[in-house]
Amino acid sequence: MSKILITGGAGFIGSHVVRHFLKKYQDYKIFNLDSLTYAGNLENLKDVENLKNYHFVKGDIVDEDFIFNLFEKEKFDKVIHLAAESHVDRSISNPLQFVQTNVIGTVNLLNAAMKVWQKDFSDKLFFHVSTDEVYGSLGDSGYFTEETPYDPKSPYSASKAASDHFVRAYYNTYGLPVVISNCSNNYGPNQFPEKLIPLFINNIINKKPLPVYGKGDNVRDWLYVGDHAKAIDVICHKGKAGETYNVGGDNEWKNIDLIRTLCQITDKKLQRDEGESEKLITFVKDRAGHDKRYAIDASKIKKELQWKPEYDFKNGLEKTIDWYLSNEEWLENVTSGDYQKYYEKQYIKR
Ligand code: NAD
Ligand code: DAU
Repeated sequence: MSKILITGGAGFIGSHVVRHFLKKYQDYKIFNLDSLTYAGNLENLKDVENLKNYHFVKGDIVDEDFIFNLFEKEKFDKVIHLAAESHVDRSISNPLQFVQTNVIGTVNLLNAAMKVWQKDFSDKLFFHVSTDEVYGSLGDSGYFTEETPYDPKSPYSASKAASDHFVRAYYNTYGLPVVISNCSNNYGPNQFPEKLIPLFINNIINKKPLPVYGKGDNVRDWLYVGDHAKAIDVICHKGKAGETYNVGGDNEWKNIDLIRTLCQITDKKLQRDEGESEKLITFVKDRAGHDKRYAIDASKIKKELQWKPEYDFKNGLEKTIDWYLSNEEWLENVTSGDYQKYYEKQYIKR
């Protein structure tokens, strides 16, 4: 029986990864370690929380003693590390928090894995789930490959780049079996409404302004979260230690085009007049250091590990919008309290 530690399993991507592993590998013991920050939510896992092979541990990856004790007690075989501060705008107002969680937290986990695994690395794996933002920003053409030099531009991407470097350093220096994935923008159910797609769906529902940064001509590559969970599964089981895999959706959209599509689909579902929500589009001051374009060349994972995205974007968006429309209580819970303060600072006083 394999014992797998998934960090950040109560967050957006983490909860999909936890559910995917619990359902597919019923003989594995799955531990979800999460400190439940504003982005962590056990409601995301309500449907699986009573499964026998699921164990939730509340704890902070920045707490060195706690992490050492947990690793010593549980003797995990594999770590899939997703816990992080993940929102670029928050990194601009509080970079130090990103250094603490994303850099120090990752190094604490690496040290704990080293300590308990050092006598025998066989069948062990430290998997760092990272982002394509470490590569910086593209112009109108080209793609990020695994060989693209790191050039992070935001405090968030700088902290993820630093943690990637530490993960590789532990492979090169100590031989710790590691693997890294760098993925493009995820979307789907359970995403906290600070990120573009859920924030805009929530604002459309509530007929609030849709704040488009700059001219809305930045480009992102979008991947359905379930496809990312499957990529994490294949990398975890078939990925080669020391390697990096880029993961993406072959699905580039200019923000403004994506936003218009979101408005059209949601209006139809809410039986509103055609064009009603598009009137809510408001161009606001651009994000500082806003990366222009991300695009992923995912040929390595496709060729070597036989993964490919399965969701067509239109279907994925429909499924996502349907989820938010039928989970209004979830939305209300996560947008009350501190969210209001965040929203005021980020958008009203912009
Ligand atoms: P998220 O913000 O939704 O979730 C992060 C989770 O980590 C939350 O459950 C939070 O409670 C937990 N966490 C934060 N600090 C912690 C700490 N100190 N100790 C323990 N738990 C802590 O993030 P997400 O969007 O699900 O992203 C997950 C990972 O995937 C991150 O590492 C992110 O960099 C990476 N990633 C995200 C995307 C994306 O589009 N969202 C794309 C590529 C890579
Ligand atoms: O590329 C992977 C990354 O994608 C992940 O590593 C990050 O964790 C994740 O947050 C995401 O980063 P982005 O900055 O691309 O995502 P965000 O949803 O914040 O923004 C997407 C685009 O939409 C970006 O160009 C900024 C723009 N935007 C965003 C918000 C929140 C707006 O125009 N208005 C907004 O209100």
